Amino acid sequence: MTQYDVAYVRSQFPALERMIDGRPAAYLDGPGGTQTPQRVLDAVHEYLAGHNANYGGRFATSAETDATIDEAHRAGADFLGCDAEEVSFGANMTTLTYFLAEALGRRLQPGDEVVITALDHEANRSPWLQLAERGVVVREVPVDLATCMLDWAAFEALVRPGRTKVVALGYASNAVGTINDVARAVALARAAGAWSVVDAVHYALHGPIDVRAVGCDFLLCSAYKFFGPHVGLMYARREATGQVEPLHLATQHPEPPYVWETGTLNFEGLAGTTAAIDFIADLGARHLDMVEDRLPAGLQGRRRAVVAGMLAGEVYEQPLARWLREQLAGIPGVTLYGPPEGSPRTSTVSFTLDGVPAGEAARTLGERGLFVWDGDFYAARLVELLGLAERGGLIRVGLAPYTTQSELERLVTALGDLSRSVR
Ligand SMILES: Cc1ncc(COP(=O)(O)O)c(C=O)c1O
Repeated sequence: MTQYDVAYVRSQFPALERMIDGRPAAYLDGPGGTQTPQRVLDAVHEYLAGHNANYGGRFATSAETDATIDEAHRAGADFLGCDAEEVSFGANMTTLTYFLAEALGRRLQPGDEVVITALDHEANRSPWLQLAERGVVVREVPVDLATCMLDWAAFEALVRPGRTKVVALGYASNAVGTINDVARAVALARAAGAWSVVDAVHYALHGPIDVRAVGCDFLLCSAYKFFGPHVGLMYARREATGQVEPLHLATQHPEPPYVWETGTLNFEGLAGTTAAIDFIADLGARHLDMVEDRLPAGLQGRRRAVVAGMLAGEVYEQPLARWLREQLAGIPGVTLYGPPEGSPRTSTVSFTLDGVPAGEAARTLGERGLFVWDGDFYAARLVELLGLAERGGLIRVGLAPYTTQSELERLVTALGDLSRSVR
């Protein structure tokens, strides 16, 4: 059986050669954005160096740009498990979500209800909360603060047939790693006749996405969280696009996926996004026998390899994350946040250290070349409810397919030192 080849994976990322004060940089900041493999750098460079033009023209570079756009839609479809015309690109997830909220909001009447969650990143809350200005009632699914999991009994009670028009939730929490049962939420939405919107930005690095299996109307993610450039992607179910009128220019192509794509896209970013998806597919092809028994039947070509690549990353990262949580639990003053062991969660590990504000911990670790995030990561509602806002929020360690056990050992040693220094 093939072993996960972390040395090969790491060799693809030039950024991993960075040193900080004589120590290799350990990029444990993946939930804020991953590093970029060489093939993505090459794709961005090649597009700008050799094919740069606007689209739709009658000359070589413009035709090549058209091909770059088409290929990005096909790659996005292989990443999400849908058809190419159901994938639209934009600046980032936040901007796409504001446009989506506007398109759906125009279909709502005062008194109609939208359901959001307390667990979500603000990018999947603020765009919906602002609909209150039009008389839309926004309801919030609470979180069980002991487990950082959604309160499903409350969720079921909040989604009401005839009243609820939109259900917006995250696939996974970027703050604490909770993976939500999104198919269950989407089924609630569908039974109520509501549109469902899934924020998959954090999840996208941590497991294969199958929008058909989830059943949602809309799903959004961002390529810079899975090795690509700063580009946002949106899946819009064909029938759902037909029910709304996205904001678009009178001169713009009125059909999906283009109707959602206002203005000139980031073509070099699209080239890089395709390369990022090809990179994941390459990981899948290299580790196929590791995950073959987990692969759903009937997948083919790049889609099959992408799913395998995402699964291989998880098979590698999950035991490392478990090991890290065990080690952290043994450090005096550490409090871990997130679902209980055995519940679905990503390899993102969040905690506090008594006596050390999160920002100070992150700075100290950063000086040792250990790059971790601190704060609320825009999941401000959750961090506020956890009572951590005044203390500077959480310390967040994100594992990625290039993370090694020895990097995590360095982190545990540094945190042990930090804990001793205040005790
Ligand atoms: C869960 C989650 N949702 C949404 C966003 C916003 O994504 P973008 O930066 O593409 O707007 C982020 C970014 O950190 C995120 O982690």
